[in-house]
Amino acid sequence: MESLIEKVLISEAEIHKRLDSMALEILTGFDGRPITVVAVLKGALVLVADLFRRLPVKLDIEFVTAQSYYGGTETTGQVEVIGGLPDVKGKSILLVDDILDTGLTLAALKAQLMDAGADSVATCVLLSKIKERSADVEADYCGFEIGDEFVVGYGLDYTGHYRNLPYIGILKEFGV
Ligand code: XMP
Repeated sequence: MESLIEKVLISEAEIHKRLDSMALEILTGFDGRPITVVAVLKGALVLVADLFRRLPVKLDIEFVTAQSYYGGTETTGQVEVIGGLPDVKGKSILLVDDILDTGLTLAALKAQLMDAGADSVATCVLLSKIKERSADVEADYCGFEIGDEFVVGYGLDYTGHYRNLPYIGILKEFGV
């Protein structure tokens, strides 16, 4: 699997170092309020596992499944929430996703969580692509800004694979 990686964009050590400082930013932002983490499956799985253990406050965790890519490298523009939303009424939400790309996923989920009665929704991503967004949204907490290229690893997949790489990398070629 690793032989198919062109280059490591962000190393495991860099990710973990940044998560330490992101956690402090989040704790400051929530200012002692209990946090309900809502993680977007499957991509945010690795991030949220590493991040929420760095948040020593009253916290619960929920998951949502949003589908926007359907296994390829281009968004379809449609964001589908599969299986509904958790009960978020009156809660302070930290919505965690792997990457902010077009912004459609984060914008759609944030709006739906607010409609479902959340008290507040702060957004958090490991990666944010520097590009024009299709939706008017930026993350409140962002690990790294990257160029507009397709990345894999640390939860991010290509056709379902590479999520288990401990770093963020760029593939040599697609179709593998
Ligand atoms: P949007 O475009 O809605 O994208 O901001 C959010 C979701 O799209 C997936 N995504 C990627 N997945 N490498 C991936 O493996 C990428 O470079 C990439 N860009 C977007 C991802 O699931 C994210 O939650």
